[in-house]
Amino acid sequence: MDPAEAKRSVARAALELLPEHGVVGLGTGSTATLFIDGVAELVRAGRKLVGVPTSDASRKQAERLGIPLLGDEGPWPIDVCVDGADEVSERLDLIKGGGGAHTREKIVNRAAKTNVIVVDESKLSRRLGERWKVPVEVLAFGRLATAERLGELGPVTLRLKDGAPWRTDSGNYIYDLAAGVLDDPGALETRLGLLPGVVESGLFVRRANVVLVAGAGGLRTLRAP
Ligand code: 5RP
Repeated sequence: MDPAEAKRSVARAALELLPEHGVVGLGTGSTATLFIDGVAELVRAGRKLVGVPTSDASRKQAERLGIPLLGDEGPWPIDVCVDGADEVSERLDLIKGGGGAHTREKIVNRAAKTNVIVVDESKLSRRLGERWKVPVEVLAFGRLATAERLGELGPVTLRLKDGAPWRTDSGNYIYDLAAGVLDDPGALETRLGLLPGVVESGLFVRRANVVLVAGAGGLRTLRAP
């Protein structure tokens, strides 16, 4: 299966896990975009689905396609959130934030009763950190000081776009932390959360209920114990 077809097939499969009517978390990224297209088709067909977007991009897409949305403030009674990931470990822990949206994604993930992650098999690893660095969203104020603290945990790289620092939807910076292969991602998530200036890390520990994986052998469903 080519990567584009893999994304389409997991996005379609995720639609099957939605309630007939209810509130749906709308993830961010190229796979989530295909899922949002599918939600819009269901809404046009008469399904009463309301979305909670995890980024300005997902909000704009959903608005353009006519998906009714709840406001940014929350709280939201989310039945199912569907989102992509950059890396998925054997324990179904995740690294997210390749698109820099992980803070909002984590807030929406936490509000959802069920979290469905849609990936192709290139995202699978045994332990987190084998394939991807840990994105860390950092407040602008004191960001170089915060980056120094992060540097004690591993080499950090400021995320750039066209040579300039890339800014999140909330105006913050992203540092990608090469923390190595993680035996205990929960410990690193906690440690990062304690650093002043860190808004949120892209580590999602025990936050996936179902992972849909598309690959050469077709579609697989992995479920958290
Ligand atoms: C954005 C994310 C995305 O879900 C992640 O980067 C996967 O994106 P894609 O489906 O394009 O591979 O975490 O912050």
